[in-house]
Amino acid sequence: MNNNIIEEIQELKKDKNAIILAHNYQPKEIQEIADFVGDSLELCLKASQVDNIDMIVFCGVNFMAETAAIICPDKKVIIPDNRANCQMADMVSLDELKKAKSENPGVPTVLYVNSRADSKSEADIICTSANADKVVSSLDSDKFIFAPDHNLGVYSAEKTNKEAMIVPEDGHCYVHTMLQPEDIIKAREEYPDAKIVVHPECDKKLRELADYVESTGGMVRLAKDPEIKQLVVGTEIGLVTRLKRENPDKEFIPLRKDAFCLTMKLITLEKLRDALRDEKFIVTVGDSIASKARVSIDRMLNLSK
Ligand code: 13P
Ligand code: SF4
Repeated sequence: MNNNIIEEIQELKKDKNAIILAHNYQPKEIQEIADFVGDSLELCLKASQVDNIDMIVFCGVNFMAETAAIICPDKKVIIPDNRANCQMADMVSLDELKKAKSENPGVPTVLYVNSRADSKSEADIICTSANADKVVSSLDSDKFIFAPDHNLGVYSAEKTNKEAMIVPEDGHCYVHTMLQPEDIIKAREEYPDAKIVVHPECDKKLRELADYVESTGGMVRLAKDPEIKQLVVGTEIGLVTRLKRENPDKEFIPLRKDAFCLTMKLITLEKLRDALRDEKFIVTVGDSIASKARVSIDRMLNLSK
């Protein structure tokens, strides 16, 4: 059954001159059929570099596909399920952002890429979890406004010795806040020789107990380090699939087996096939928002090239 769908997807991909991009949290079968799998930053960079392609099928959540649509206005950007929202992306409103900006004149605004396009249009620069400290370091200011992830805002302030004004106070990812310090204590008992890595969307208490703090792309690189034989992985469980596939001789243990992003898992092979065949769901961003958001995304991409 899967073999037929896989063949159909390969055929349709050729017919439509399409490329499939997938986030590290996507289901195993989607990662396996994708042309490129990466973290949020790697996917933005890839979208900015694809040439001679008419269609990008984005297997991830809406803000990622929206970002690709902003970067690639000349290409059709499709998401196989348009209900694939990131809850965190909706946690800051335009009004809250505008209020923070008016109360802090001259203070630059850094928006986590996990945000809506209209919020991005209010930002000076975008960041991902892979480059938040680099982005904040590049600012010509000791203070910055940060939205919407509280934990990443605190982490980038610590790493850069700058002051973050974080909006909203409680912006978070429900998957990463599910991970608790007790999970690390338990993992240390069960796997005394393992190293432990957590995502910067985790609470500071977890960061302090872990051996490493990395974005999902950073975790992929860390797993290849010859020193790493056994790794406890504090992020969404989809990443563990990739780590195992790429390092079959090593052991990867999810910090919690229920760290599961429901909307990332809405994408299936059937929906991917239908998306290519029916060219749905097309992701578009209005010109006035896209042109402003593009400036802040390009500032980030220029730092990463
Ligand atoms: P990465 O930037 O590490 O890929 O993380 C994206 C994300 O949604 C984390 O929950
Ligand atoms: Fe959003 Fe969290 Fe899912 Fe990442 S894991 S897409 S931050 S809800």
